[in-house]
Amino acid sequence: MKAVFDDHDRTYCNWHVFRSGRTFTYIICLFGFIAIVYFTKNRPVAFAQIHSFNSSNSLPIYYAYTNIPFLPDVHIDDDLGFVPHFLAFTYDWDMLNQCLDSFYESKVGWQNVVLVDNSPGKLAVKRRDWLARKYGHMIIAILPTSSLLSFSHLQNLFLDIAQQSKCDFYSWSHMDIMLLPLSEDWAIAKENINKTVGAKSSDAHPHTVYTKMLNSIRQANRTENNWSVIFYHYDLVIAVRTSAYISNGPFDIYIPQYTADCDYYRRLKLSGYVSINQHIVHIFHMPKVLKNELVEELKTCAWKRAKEILHISADDGRDINRTQWRRNNMRIADREAEPLLYTAGLTYYQKKWNTRNCGLKNNEPNWNLDPIIT
Ligand SMILES: *[C@@H]1O[C@H](CO)[C@@H](O)[C@H](O)[C@H]1NC(C)=O
Ligand SMILES: *[C@@H]1O[C@H](CO)[C@@H](O)[C@H](O)[C@H]1NC(C)=O
Ligand SMILES: *[C@@H]1O[C@H](CO)[C@@H](O)[C@H](O)[C@H]1NC(C)=O
Ligand SMILES: *[C@@H]1O[C@H](CO)[C@@H](O)[C@H](O)[C@H]1NC(C)=O
Ligand SMILES: *[C@@H]1O[C@H](CO)[C@@H](O)[C@H](O)[C@H]1NC(C)=O
Repeated sequence: MKAVFDDHDRTYCNWHVFRSGRTFTYIICLFGFIAIVYFTKNRPVAFAQIHSFNSSNSLPIYYAYTNIPFLPDVHIDDDLGFVPHFLAFTYDWDMLNQCLDSFYESKVGWQNVVLVDNSPGKLAVKRRDWLARKYGHMIIAILPTSSLLSFSHLQNLFLDIAQQSKCDFYSWSHMDIMLLPLSEDWAIAKENINKTVGAKSSDAHPHTVYTKMLNSIRQANRTENNWSVIFYHYDLVIAVRTSAYISNGPFDIYIPQYTADCDYYRRLKLSGYVSINQHIVHIFHMPKVLKNELVEELKTCAWKRAKEILHISADDGRDINRTQWRRNNMRIADREAEPLLYTAGLTYYQKKWNTRNCGLKNNEPNWNLDPIIT
């Protein structure tokens, strides 16, 4: 390759000898040489790596999540920095939309949602333009998972992304929930904005639920040395201090879903970490998608009625099997495998903690958790 450049260089210089004085020719040659050195040294990185690769080199490692291709509306807080909110979508598109609508509501005004598309068929990726049009200000990235990940895998992925993106804090939530601002916030905001479900978050009042969440992180960080998580209604919505999770280790992947949370929060406590409870918004655990009439009513009704609608609908879940909505969209293999994996996880949990109950008050694990191997 060098030889080709040299030949070209010489030809170029000789061509000039016929037309101008010697000094001028040398200057042109010098510039030509500098240009060649410059361009060969400033090739794109990937190109350089191909050329420097030799069989004794190890393969290059790319940290995929350090440069998430964000949409333009990323909110970077002055002191907290970038606080992403992870929302994992596995089953039921309508349930996801219901949740996103309620996060998008003007007084909730959520921001920095990183939608982790864990769905079979990657529906969110396929419908990304539609999502961008509807929630453009709120969803900043869609990250497809490489295969169907369990709850524990997803938690470890959130932590991994937060760590690689240098986020000191992040939040995540379930996606079968709906939010309703507290009545006092509703009243404040009412003077300024319409209370339509799905109003643009760019119109949001500065006192949104999202702002309150950031404030609660700020306050926790100021007042509690050993804080690890802030529960807003257990972990239906939760803020995480990344450094606490890093030192506590990953979620136990041998407990794929149910009781993985119980295991992790007990381990945080055993490591000397403190969890905080904060009530900044009403959070409803929805057993299914609301009927259209109720969705329409929510757009115009008073706060009291909105709370009633959501309360009654969420309460319905006590009679309805709460896992049912997920099963609606499962493939046959998912449906067959899930109860088996659930039982296996629970059996393992019992070996670890001597109980199948989530409430681990004074329980110590039956083996040394340090180091934890994923
Ligand atoms: C190949 O890579 C090794 C390790 O980086 C390096 O020491 C060596 O000089 C390289 N050889 C060539 C021909 O570039
Ligand atoms: C949070 O607290 C840690 C130490 O406790 C401090 O280093 C950091 O700057 C704080 N972050 C914010 C955003 O206040
Ligand atoms: C509320 O919404 C209506 C209809 O979309 C609009 O005409 C009105 O200007 C809005 N009010 C405020 C305060 O934004
Ligand atoms: C908790 O706080 C105490 C005193 O502030 C400190 O000695 C201890 O190391 C902390 N534990 C963790 C896990 O940070
Ligand atoms: C919920 O329904 C699924 C399947 O329909 C079943 O396997 C599971 O045992 C049910 N759970 C409860 C608590 O009834």
